[in-house]
Amino acid sequence: MSWLSQRAELRRSQGLHRTLRARTPEWTGVDIASNDYLGLATHPEVVEAGVQALRTWGAGATGSRLVSGHTVLHAELESALSVLLRAERTLVFSSGYLANLAAITALTDEDTLLLSDAFNHASIIDACRLSRATSTVYPNKDVAAVRDALAANRDRRAVIVTDALFSVDGDLAPLADLAEVADAHDAVLIVDEAHSVGVLGDSGEGACAAAGMLSDRLVRTFTLSKALGSQGGGVAAGETVIEHLVNTARSFIFDTGLAPAAAGSALAATSMVLSHPHLPGRARAATEALAEVAGHAGWQVNPHDAAVASIPVGAPDAAVRAQRICADAGVDVGCFRPPSVPDGVARLRMTGHANLGADDMNLVEKALRAAREAT
Ligand SMILES: Cc1ncc(COP(=O)(O)O)c(C=O)c1O
Repeated sequence: MSWLSQRAELRRSQGLHRTLRARTPEWTGVDIASNDYLGLATHPEVVEAGVQALRTWGAGATGSRLVSGHTVLHAELESALSVLLRAERTLVFSSGYLANLAAITALTDEDTLLLSDAFNHASIIDACRLSRATSTVYPNKDVAAVRDALAANRDRRAVIVTDALFSVDGDLAPLADLAEVADAHDAVLIVDEAHSVGVLGDSGEGACAAAGMLSDRLVRTFTLSKALGSQGGGVAAGETVIEHLVNTARSFIFDTGLAPAAAGSALAATSMVLSHPHLPGRARAATEALAEVAGHAGWQVNPHDAAVASIPVGAPDAAVRAQRICADAGVDVGCFRPPSVPDGVARLRMTGHANLGADDMNLVEKALRAAREAT
C-alpha cells in the first residue's frame, strides 16, 4: 500500500490535497459556495414536507422502485416535476449522478456513436466510460466537431451529450445549435440540466424548455439537490424513453428508490418554484451582484449565464489561500482545483442565491478584497 502514501505526498506537493470540512449548525456566515440557489434547502415548508414524508413513509424507500420503493409520493413528485420541466414524463432517481448513468447507458449500445463535450460533468464522463458505445469527446462547445463526427458516422445510432450549463464557470452550451445538428442527423440529444432547472427560464423550467427546444429526441437529466434544495435526480423525456429506462436502466432497477424525506422535500420545493416564479430571477440577479462586487474587489470574473460565476485564480494553493481568507471573513466560497477544473486553472466558484441581501454582498466584497490583496 506504499503507493497510496506516495500519491498522497504528490497531491500535497501540488496543492491538490483535499480534506473534509464539517459544517456546524452554529455557522452564520454568507453561503456563496453551495448549490442551494433558491435557498430552499432550509426553507421551513420544504423541511416540514420532508418531516411529514418521513412520518408517513419511514426513513427509507425499502427497496428498488420496481419492488417496494415506489410510493404515491414518488408518483406525485414526478407529476409535479413534469409540470415544472414541461416534460411528457419524468423519472426520479436517488441522485443526479445515477440519472446520468441511466440515461446515457440505457440509450446507447455497441452500435452507437456517443459524442460528449470535453467539459461535461464527471457523472457524464463516467457514464460514457460505462456505456458500450464508441465514445468520442469533442472540444468544449465545438458544434462543428459534432457536425463533422455525425456526418462521418455511417450506420450507427448517434447520441450527443452535454451539460446545459457547465458547472465550473456556469456558461451555457450551444443548445439550439446542438439540437439542430441532432435533428439533421437523427441523433438523440441528452442535456444535463443540473445547474439550470429552477434557475433558467421564466419560471425555472430550465435551459431547454426556456429555449423552446423540446422535442422527441431530447432527453433531459437533472438533480433535485441544487435549486430544489433536496437530494436525488431525474430524467425528463417522452413516454417511450421513460418506459425504456424503467425496464433497462441498471441504476434505476438495482438501486433503492429515492428516500421518502428527499422526495417529500423535493415535491414541496418543486411546488414552491411553480408558485413563486420570481425565485429563479432572484438567484440570477444575486449572481450578477456577486460578479459586480468581485470586480470591485479587484477580481476578474469569467463569463456566466445563470447562478454560477467563477474567478480564475491560477495555482491551486493560491486558490485555497483565497478561500481560507474569505472563510475567516465569514464568507463560504467554493474552491475548484484539478481535476475538478477541465482547463487546470484553479478557481474561486461563487453561486448566487435568491435569498442573498445587500449586507451579504457588502461582506462578500470585503472578504474578496482581503483575498485579492493577499494573492
Ligand atoms: C452537471 C452536474 N450533473 C450531475 C450532477 C450530479 O448530481 P447529484 O449531486 O444529484 O448526484 C452534478 C452535481 O454535482 C452536476 O454538477
